[in-house]
This record gives sequence, C-alpha cells and structure tokens, in this order.
Amino acid sequence: MSARTLFVTTALPYANGPFHIGHIMEYIQADIWVRFQRMHGHTVHFVGADDAHGAPIMIAAEKEGVTPQAFVERIAAGRRQYLDGFHIGFDHWHSTDSPENVELSQSIYRGLRDAGLIDVRPIEQFFDPVKGMFLPDRYIKGECPNCGAPDQYGDACENCGAVYAATELKNPFSALTGATPELRVSEHYFFRLSDPRCVRFLREWTRGDDRWGEPRLQPEVLAKAREWLGAETNEGGDGGSLADWDISRDAPYFGIEIPDAPGKYFYVWLDAPIGYLASLKALCRERGIDFDALLADPATEQVHFIGKDIIYFHVLFWPAMLHFAGRKTPDRVNVHGFITVSGAKMSKSRGTGISPLRYLEIGMDPEWLRYYLAAKLNSHVQDVDFDPDDFLARVNADLIGKYVNIASRASGFVARQFDGRVLPADEVEDDAQRERVARLAAQVSDAYEEREFGAVARLTMAYADEINQYFDANRPWEMAKDPAQRDALHRVCSRCLVAFHRLTVLLAPMLPATAARVAELFGTPPLRWEDLGVADGTVSPVRSIGRYSHLMTRVEAKQLDALFEPPAETAKPLAPHAGAGATTKATTPTVSIDEFARIDLRIARIVDAQPVEGSKKLLRLEIDLGEERTRTVFSGIRAAYEPQALVGRMAVVVANLAPRKMKFGVSEAMVLSASADDPDRPAALYLLDVHEGAQPGMKVS
Ligand code: 2FM
Ligand code: ZN
Repeated sequence: MSARTLFVTTALPYANGPFHIGHIMEYIQADIWVRFQRMHGHTVHFVGADDAHGAPIMIAAEKEGVTPQAFVERIAAGRRQYLDGFHIGFDHWHSTDSPENVELSQSIYRGLRDAGLIDVRPIEQFFDPVKGMFLPDRYIKGECPNCGAPDQYGDACENCGAVYAATELKNPFSALTGATPELRVSEHYFFRLSDPRCVRFLREWTRGDDRWGEPRLQPEVLAKAREWLGAETNEGGDGGSLADWDISRDAPYFGIEIPDAPGKYFYVWLDAPIGYLASLKALCRERGIDFDALLADPATEQVHFIGKDIIYFHVLFWPAMLHFAGRKTPDRVNVHGFITVSGAKMSKSRGTGISPLRYLEIGMDPEWLRYYLAAKLNSHVQDVDFDPDDFLARVNADLIGKYVNIASRASGFVARQFDGRVLPADEVEDDAQRERVARLAAQVSDAYEEREFGAVARLTMAYADEINQYFDANRPWEMAKDPAQRDALHRVCSRCLVAFHRLTVLLAPMLPATAARVAELFGTPPLRWEDLGVADGTVSPVRSIGRYSHLMTRVEAKQLDALFEPPAETAKPLAPHAGAGATTKATTPTVSIDEFARIDLRIARIVDAQPVEGSKKLLRLEIDLGEERTRTVFSGIRAAYEPQALVGRMAVVVANLAPRKMKFGVSEAMVLSASADDPDRPAALYLLDVHEGAQPGMKVS
C-alpha cells in the first residue's frame, strides 16, 4: 500500500472538567490506531481540542466569578499531564474558542445559507421565570420523549441516544432553580435537514464505503442511522425525513456569533465538530502545511473516533454540514462503547469512576492500562469493563508472565556467555518458523487496521506462548552447563530474543514507552513495522542486546486498592459509619458551627437494599433524598441488617460527601449509624431512627 495521509480526531471534551477514564479510553484507542499507521510510514495528523462553548460552561464560569475564557483556559492547562501520562501522541491540542474556529464555523454556516438550507423562524422556548433567562437544553430536565427514561437532559437521551427538542421532554423542570419553565417566543436559526436533498445525501453517505471498499460506518451504527433516517419509499427517494436542527441560541451565550444575526450565537454542537478542522488548521500553520490543499486533496482520509452517545451528531449533522458547505466529508466514523467499572455505568456529566490522575499519581504504569483496554477493545460498539481483579490477572499473566518473561529469561545467557551478541534471524529460524511470523504479522496488521485490538492481544500472546514453550523445551539452563551445546544455546536464546523484538514491534502501538526501551536495549532505531523483517527486502535489525533491566513490573493488588480508595482528605474525617461511637470517648477536636454547617445531613428513604457480591461487609442501598433521582450508597452494615428489612426505612445521611469510588461502584452519600467500634462485635451497628413525619430530603441540623 502506498503512503496514506490521515487526519484523525477524537471527540472534543467539554472544557468544564478534567478528563475522566472514558476520555482516556477513547484517546488510547485512537492513539493505538494512529501509532500503528505511523509505524507503517503513513502520515497522520492526529488532533484534539477542548469543546469550550455552551451555556453550561458559561454558567460554571459565572459561579466561579471568572470569564468563560479564563475558565476554559484553566481546564486546558490541566490536559497535558493526562495526555503525556498515558502516552497519547496528539500532534496538536486546540480549542473551539479560537479564531480558526470562528472563521471556519462562520464560513460553513455561510455555505449552508447559500445552499438555501438555513431557515429563520420564531419558536417557543423554555424560559426560567426565576433566573430570568431562556433555559439552555442542558438545564432543562425531564423524561425522554422516546424511551421515557427519567432525569434526561433537554437535548439528547443518555439512555437511548435519541436527540430531541427540550420542549418535547415530559414533565420538564429547570435544573438551575427547579422552577417549572414557561414557554416564550424567540427567533431561531435552523439547518433544514428536512430538505429532501439532505435526506437523500445522508442515505447514500451512511451506506457508503471508504476508499478501501470497507463500509464507513459499523453495521450497528448504520442500523441506527437508518432508523433515524426513516422509511425509504424508493431507492434514494424522499420517503423519510429528519427534523430541522435548531442551530442558534440567544444571548447571553458563550459561543460564536452568527453572521448578520445580532444577539444570536451558534449552538455549541454546531461549532464543536468544526473544532476538528480548527485544530488541524492550527497544526498546519505550526508545521507550514497548506491546510486548504491538505483537505482539498482527495487522498487525505478523515477519520473520527467517538463514543456511542454522540453518533447522531457525527453521522447526520456533521457530514451534512460539511457536504452542503462544499467540503470533504469523513471517510470513517469509528464508534466505541462506554467504559464501565466493575460493571457499573459511568455518567459522562456526573463523571466519577476511576480517576486517571490518581492512577498516575500512585505510580501505576500507563502501559498496563493501554494494554488492558486494548485487549478488551474491538471494532464493535461494545462497552468495555474495567474489572480490578481481571486487570491484575490479565496484565500480570500476559505482559509479565508471557511477553517480558521471554527477554528476562533469554537475555542473561546471551549477555553473560556471548557478550550480548544475538545471532541474526535468518540463522536461527527455519522456513516454517519464518512463515509463521509472516502470517502472524499479516494477521496482526489486519487486526490493528480494523481496530480489533483484542485480536492483536490474542495473536501476540499465542506467539509469546509458543516462544516460551520453545525456551522451556530446549532447557537452556542445562545447555549452559555443557560446553558441547554452546552453539545450540546461542541459537535458542537468539531465536527467543529475535522473537521478543518482533513481539515488541507488534505490540508497540499499545506499549509505546516499552517499545522505546526495547529499541534502546537492542541498540536499534525507533521500531517500524518493517523491522519485523518478514516483508521482501527487509530484515530484523536485531544483532546484539545491552544490559537487561526490568522492562515492566507486576501489578500489585495494593495498587488497585489504592486506586479505589477515596483521597485521604475525604476519607479521614468521615470514615464509614463513623457517626456516634457509643463506646468511644469524646476525644476528637471541637469544630465550629460553620464547620459543622458544611456537612449536609438529610433524611433519606431506603428504597432498595441488596447484598454486594464479593463483599461480606457491604450492602448496596438505593436512597431517595427527595431529588429527581435516587442515589446509590455502599454501606458497611451487612453484618447488622438483612437487606429486605431496610427497604422503606428512613435514615440520616451525609448528602454532600464527595462521591467515593469503591471496587463495586460509586457511593454517593453516607448512611449514618451508631457502632460499638469493636472488631469482635461487627453486628453492633445501629441505624439512626427518624420520627414519623420527616420526609426524604429534609435537612437535619
Ligand atoms: O459529548 C461531548 O463531550 C462533546 N463535547 C463532544 C463533541 S465532539 C465534536 F463534535 F466536537
Ligand atoms: Zn431515551
């Protein structure tokens, strides 16, 4: 294949908080794919950016008393430590609040307007009578009009993925003030997706192939798109229809002004994907590349990596915007599922799960996570579960027990007895072994290209198994005692080291830092695919090995415990059921009334109680605090209470305790109890009684 030019992006994260583990998974997935392409000598422009605009960021900045620009800059300043920490090699990180994005968004909008696809019409919109402003979609909540899921935002459903107008929500309320919103009239700008041209184009585009003859959408994504595009009455016909898309928001709004429309701004989702182009443009300027020529070149491939919650925007709005503004449309939209932690789903807006920063801070190796997630990723839209026990077992078994094991066992003999000289591949492998490697390389290559990273892990580990078996079968530790077997020992260990080097090439997209250390160990340049030495005219460059030092350590259970422990400052003062220790002397320092007032004690009703599999101490409680949704609490009261006896009972809880990540899920409050604090009497634990009349949500003071 001749050299490709790729423009690759990941979804732009909202600049309202640090990265969570879901972002990191997506970046790892894309980064692996990008590194694989680069190892083949292809040119890749891999860019990201902060999604800076929108009402939530404006409101969050207002709360902090800073400008939205200052707010998003602070968030942007925190990005590098994650990206460097997990070895994610973006070429450029930009912001949608940038001159490039203003220019590109306004130009694309003008293109759509010139194509006759923009309409202006008055709409009724929710207005918060308490706050005195039109309510942004994200600040209206209610039940999804499509699937009925409660507590959904006003623009899209996190449960079924449907996108709708806020006014379609059932039982809406203002998330800012709790008020029932009023409908008021305002003039809005619409992208006329209902135009038959759009439907026709999208039908064709969604069904289309990329330039390699592969479908540009995964089958499950195409199925969704077809559902959204509606029934087809004839080939390419106008049977179905999409709703027009409201792309304007009224001032005050943090966004990009709509040309010739004073007081109107682009809705954040209009300029967000254009941020992909803005970031590329900034990169091009930095590197002296002609941005327009790059995008106009039909050979440039545009590939987006996104999560399953934003398919609608990327396979309908985005290609339509680009096409009707006369621009290149994406070649591929690669969709992944969510990451769950021990089976519990994380919410994008409510965050939590594993803290990526904590992972790095406690010294866990980023390459473990890269490998573990990669081994679970495939080309389908499937959720990936991070399970701590599985993580430990998988990383230790595969990376340490199989892969690194080869080098640590073979290198000593070669260093000590042969001065580090490794016999070349063609002297230590027979034809069958060479063919085996060539086949493996081709299979792994295909798997990377198709994002079947789990298959890469399986294929490489199977080869590592074979090499370990070969090592064991030849018993080099015995050969080393017999001078007559010296040459044979050299051959056996050399073959293992050549194989180890090849495995490193195959795993390099997943383990880039390890691969760099291995290249150093063998004194070779940074690894390229051709270093496998299986293609015509190429040879494995391995000739010698330097002093071996540990390439990777084992994962230890205590590291995973530390990953799930709450940070010290929230754990200490409020340990579980630390309430009234009946036998404890009152020796704790006094607190001021203000300090006490910071603890939000509330009445809650326990609506469900279940044992937690794998824990002898915990019960999983669902508690009603009079909020729009219940909260999950893990409480260490299993020794004292039968779960069913708790259902319907009132309790006193600390409602503003920082969410606590536990092995089994996230605990969102703490149920107070009195305890004897005596390890011999674990059942001496008593929930506090609440007198009749108290209602869920009432404050305790
Ligand atoms: O869902 C989100 O987190 C959005 N900020 C993703 C935007 S992707 C692209 F369109 F910018
Ligand atoms: Zn829904």
